[in-house]
Amino acid sequence: MRAGDIGREAVLSGWVANWRDHGGLAFIDLRDRTGLTQIVFRPEKDEQLHGRARELRSEFCVSVRGVVERRPPEMANPKLPTGQVELLAAEMQVHSESQTPPFSVASSEEVSMEVRLKNRFLDLRSPHMQRNLETRHRLMQTTRRYLDDEGFIEVETPFLTKSTPEGARDYLVPSRVSPGHFYALPQSPQLFKQLLMIGGMDRYFQIVKCFRDEDLRANRQPEFTQIDIEMSFVDEGDVMSLSEGLLARLMEEALHEPLKLPLPRIDYSESLADYGTDAPDLRFELRIRDISDVVRECGFRVFSGAVADGGQVRGLCLPEGARMPRSQVDGLVEWARQLGAGGLAWFKVREGRAQGGIAKFLSEGELQAIRERFEAEDGSLLLFVADRERVCNLALSHLRLRLAREFNLVRQGDHALCWVVGAPAFQQEEEGGPWTFVHHPFTAPCAEDVDKLESAPGEVGSRSYDIVMDGQEIGGGSIRVADAELQKRILGVLGYTDEEIEERFGFFIRALRYGPPPHGGIAFGFDRLVMTILGIDDLRETIAFPKTQRAVCLLTDAPSEVREVQLRELGIRLEG
Ligand code: AMO
Ligand code: AMP
Repeated sequence: MRAGDIGREAVLSGWVANWRDHGGLAFIDLRDRTGLTQIVFRPEKDEQLHGRARELRSEFCVSVRGVVERRPPEMANPKLPTGQVELLAAEMQVHSESQTPPFSVASSEEVSMEVRLKNRFLDLRSPHMQRNLETRHRLMQTTRRYLDDEGFIEVETPFLTKSTPEGARDYLVPSRVSPGHFYALPQSPQLFKQLLMIGGMDRYFQIVKCFRDEDLRANRQPEFTQIDIEMSFVDEGDVMSLSEGLLARLMEEALHEPLKLPLPRIDYSESLADYGTDAPDLRFELRIRDISDVVRECGFRVFSGAVADGGQVRGLCLPEGARMPRSQVDGLVEWARQLGAGGLAWFKVREGRAQGGIAKFLSEGELQAIRERFEAEDGSLLLFVADRERVCNLALSHLRLRLAREFNLVRQGDHALCWVVGAPAFQQEEEGGPWTFVHHPFTAPCAEDVDKLESAPGEVGSRSYDIVMDGQEIGGGSIRVADAELQKRILGVLGYTDEEIEERFGFFIRALRYGPPPHGGIAFGFDRLVMTILGIDDLRETIAFPKTQRAVCLLTDAPSEVREVQLRELGIRLEG
């Protein structure tokens, strides 16, 4: 309802957001998906109706018929789109009453997530949840339209299936008909989408639930949604430009912002070196620099010792950080220890000189070289971690984000996307340990590295690409192995015996023997994409009925115990 509707008759349906009595007039603000509208009940018009209106309370569900009127000037509310008008009530139907809600829907954002999730049906009435889910819906429709226009067909793949390794644990579903046998819920449709390519489907997509039993964080849910894509007769560039087109459309739809294409590409090793992570937030600079060479022989044992032990010394330079009070610096040092670093060494640059912290342990020449490495100007604060590469990366990548937050280095509403390419195919948790995949076992190795598969797995590159937005990995994909023997060799590197390969992946290896096309694809984490586009930092704000960090649904109390007879039917006996 807007000023243009004045004089029209209307019926409004929704929920009572606010109610108040003013000198004989009764008002309610009625809320529906489109927002709030004021309704006025005048006693002189209909005394009985006015009396009923005074009994309305928050979250009662009503329909009101009346005439749209202009509000008296002193009652107009320029902040509301409906602020010029009100509905003069002539008739009302109360569909249902509500108990006193446990929180005010309008300010549900300030309520604890636990209380919100337990009462999600109320929380969903809040303007921010309505906006989030509507944006999610729009982006989903835009995705479908875009991919349909590009000649993709949406194919559903099974949920009751065999394990598809993506690095997490499986959710298992016991079979009643085959006691002792289990389906696994898919961690992704990876093998099925590849089978679809072998099946001649050429261009597939699916907006699909995936299930992963892994440690949950703010950007992970046990069940989440992917935009899953696979294409035949393509190389990396084809998948990447198709993806860029999709992202540009989505940004346009949600933010009305053009996306500058092509997106920058960063090498995996460069990303780790400069940002300490393979998901760099490029909305601000702050690059990590390595000073191991400078301090290799210095008098500060923490530094020289770390280098001698095969570690490194790397750090960050925060321009204008020198004004940080000592207590705040000490806070950072303590926090770095909690992240597993031995500590955080620092000095400031003031009046052209290095001061404070570890400055006294280093020579003038060393200090000068360090300042040059960082191009550190007067007023900056330099922070260092001396440790093994893994620890440096972890501590410095977190430090980078924390400094950006505390020093407002990110402009509100800014977004930065990039591809991270050239990841290795395999990695080891520790030297001499087993090899695991970096992406997944079906990613093609770089052709020139194939002869090193068995002799030097750590040197094998992969044909994979990840896409990162504002420091979140929002998608990843690769060109696939399209050769049965090569696929078996890769599974062999990952430690599968021939029997295990046959038992777990035999169906897929067999399919690879019947004319597989060259193919590749990508999957976007849809929930994460919506979250990042909306600029929020909790996945649960974009999902209607999400789970807690302990994978519990607070609304329904799932997971829950089942009846003894159900277990018996499944041939399952619980221990203890
Ligand atoms: P990957 O495992 O990288 O690739 O998953 C793709 C994207 O899914 C999102 N994601 C998640 N989102 C929410 N909660 C989770 N627990 C979660 N786990 C992953 C991330 C991630 O980038 N089959 C391959 C894709 C391919 O190769 O085509 C795959 O699943 O945003
Ligand atoms: P210490 O000699 O242990 O008192 O340390 C002197 C300074 O070096 C303190 O500021 C510590 O926080 C810092 N420090 C200790 N260990 C490390 C490390 N591994 N990396 C960076 N700084 C460290």
